[in-house]
Amino acid sequence: MTLSFKTSSSSSPRLTPKSIAGAGDDASQFFHHKTSYRAHTTTLFFILVSLSLFGFFSLYCSPNTIYRAAFFATTRPSKSRIVSYVINTQDSSHHQLSNGSRRIRAEAVLWPGWDILVIVSPEEKVMPPQLPGENYTCFYPNGEKSIARFAAILPFSNRTSFRCSLPGIYRHHHPIPTPILASSKTFQLSPETRWPDLPLWNFVVFEAISTENDVVLFVKGPNRGLGSNKPPESFRCVFGEESDTAIRTAVTSSVQEVFRCSLPDITIDTPIKIYLEAVATDKEETKTIPSVAYYTPKHTLAEPREKVLLCATTMVYNVAKYLREWVMYHAAIGIQRFIIYDNGSDDELNDVVEVLNSEKYDVIKVLWIWPKTQEAGFSHAAVYGNDTCTWMMYLDVDEFLFSPAWDKQSQPSDRMIRSLLPSNHSMIGQVSFKSHEFGPSNQTKHPREGVTQGYTCRREEDQRHKSIVRLSVVEHSLYTAIHHFGLKGEYEWRVADTEEGVVNHYKYQAWREFKAKFKRRVSAYVVDWTRVSNPKSRDRTPGLGFKPVEPDGWAYKFCEVMDLRLKRLTKKWFGYPVKNGYRMAWQR
Ligand SMILES: *[C@@H]1O[C@H](CO)[C@@H](O)[C@H](O)[C@H]1NC(C)=O
Ligand SMILES: *[C@@H]1O[C@H](CO)[C@@H](O)[C@H](O)[C@H]1NC(C)=O
Ligand SMILES: *[C@@H]1O[C@H](CO)[C@@H](O)[C@H](O)[C@H]1NC(C)=O
Ligand SMILES: *[C@@H]1O[C@H](CO)[C@@H](O)[C@H](O)[C@H]1NC(C)=O
Ligand SMILES: *[C@@H]1O[C@H](CO)[C@@H](O)[C@H](O)[C@H]1NC(C)=O
Ligand SMILES: *[C@@H]1O[C@H](CO)[C@@H](O)[C@H](O)[C@H]1NC(C)=O
Ligand SMILES: *[C@@H]1O[C@H](CO)[C@@H](O)[C@H](O)[C@H]1NC(C)=O
Repeated sequence: MTLSFKTSSSSSPRLTPKSIAGAGDDASQFFHHKTSYRAHTTTLFFILVSLSLFGFFSLYCSPNTIYRAAFFATTRPSKSRIVSYVINTQDSSHHQLSNGSRRIRAEAVLWPGWDILVIVSPEEKVMPPQLPGENYTCFYPNGEKSIARFAAILPFSNRTSFRCSLPGIYRHHHPIPTPILASSKTFQLSPETRWPDLPLWNFVVFEAISTENDVVLFVKGPNRGLGSNKPPESFRCVFGEESDTAIRTAVTSSVQEVFRCSLPDITIDTPIKIYLEAVATDKEETKTIPSVAYYTPKHTLAEPREKVLLCATTMVYNVAKYLREWVMYHAAIGIQRFIIYDNGSDDELNDVVEVLNSEKYDVIKVLWIWPKTQEAGFSHAAVYGNDTCTWMMYLDVDEFLFSPAWDKQSQPSDRMIRSLLPSNHSMIGQVSFKSHEFGPSNQTKHPREGVTQGYTCRREEDQRHKSIVRLSVVEHSLYTAIHHFGLKGEYEWRVADTEEGVVNHYKYQAWREFKAKFKRRVSAYVVDWTRVSNPKSRDRTPGLGFKPVEPDGWAYKFCEVMDLRLKRLTKKWFGYPVKNGYRMAWQR
């Protein structure tokens, strides 16, 4: 048994309040506690006592730092816990235990808020728990365990994922051991059990999507923020687990969180793990960026759908109640397919999507659970939609595109958005429309007839634009600034005049709605609205402080111009009279 007294032997990136964007409040609290940790003398005393008492826990000691030893010692596991986790030195089988308790191979990543996302490896066939009695559990080296709550089935790879809460004592660890997932409430640890370092959410390959020619990786960490992209030559892609069999290929693009890798010259039918590797430099050794992503060749994912001219994509979280109006309106003016990136909504999104599909709207839901990765999600959508959509409109569900010129039309038509786009042979690859930001317009709750009827008063100034892009001419890097994409060299980008087309952005809604929406900002590069760090950001709401408390006179704010154009248009197109007024087609 060896005990190292180095303060840290970790080569993993440090999890600090600064570096883990999006960590919850309790996360930063824990980081602060770490600095005020207890006196060394007491710690050493406990280490010695505990090592002699619990010496058989040899697995604790080998790669561990003084921190790890100290935390075990100071937590002093109770007797009963130790008894129920006696290490079985005979059983070296890692996967199958005599009485049906089974270890499940899985990847994991530490999530903001001290949850671990545990993703079952593709070779395991674990479906979400079917029976209420089925229990999955995360086990840690010290014998602690936490319940593995079913989280989701990840798209494309169909991997079942769970969430486990990281036990308190490991929150101070560097590195943190990856828990073992097992299909029972008890599990016998073996002394040979290895505890690889748990990847942290700020430094991990989290998703991959294949094209005909390459594979696109989505990676947190190497490129931080705008303008800090490292050259592609400083990376390589690694296909397969780290070993002699892994194959390395060139990285052809490295922008934001998006990396593109040449395909390896191999034929596979089952997914294989894919990593990104930072190539050695004068100063640093080769370093593998941890990964929870798999490479699946494109041909195995074929989901044949007819190619359409116009699709729309959006990223949503708990916005089911707006979605119906948004889809029905935009479908009527020419959007043929909707690709909804769902950030783990727990509202009635599935039901709303199902009903829309049963009404012959073409709505596809893609689960995108990765926190604060809106740019990456948009780049992903550009690749995902490329086979089946010629043009892609990127619009939020509180945004509605229209042309003031349509007010003469008695009916909407599917040629309407088309008429705002350049002809097929134009060199214009992207058209953007400025937006108008609407205020709460005296509403105190979500208007029954929908946002287009309820919100009528807005700020005067034009705001940022939203875009419709021709996917075939999007830059290889997939660079996106949310509001528009970078285009291949020879293609042009046009910003439409507001008389031609404009986006009504129902941004400042009734307080109840607004509060829920602004508690979570989705962009990777936008500050949290509750943080004081960037008071001038355009993403900040003017007049709103740093607390989610309804400002005085909220209902009347942002009201400079009455703008009834879309209200009138949608009432004409989608309204029908009822006894005491009218109803809109999307009301159910
Ligand atoms: C399975 O093994 C665990 C760990 O040894 C033990 O606690 C449990 O009682 C066993 N269950 C059954 C049904 O034998
Ligand atoms: C799962 O947990 C529940 C509640 O804790 C328990 O009643 C049930 O017996 C467990 N099922 C299995 C298969 O261990
Ligand atoms: C994932 O599941 C879907 C639907 O069950 C299936 O069509 C698809 O082939 C599966 N994909 C993989 C990679 O297993
Ligand atoms: C998704 O929602 C979580 C909260 O559940 C939030 O922390 C995260 O930033 C959101 N991410 C995106 C991409 O919407
Ligand atoms: C442009 O292309 C689309 C689909 O590729 C086709 O439906 C449409 O008729 C074309 N329009 C013109 C003006 O050629
Ligand atoms: C909101 O209410 C105020 C006071 O009743 C009124 O003056 C204003 O016109 C209303 N605004 C809208 C957009 O209805
Ligand atoms: C879409 O596919 C075309 C043809 O393969 C390719 O040139 C283009 O770069 C792709 N666009 C995106 C966004 O993947």
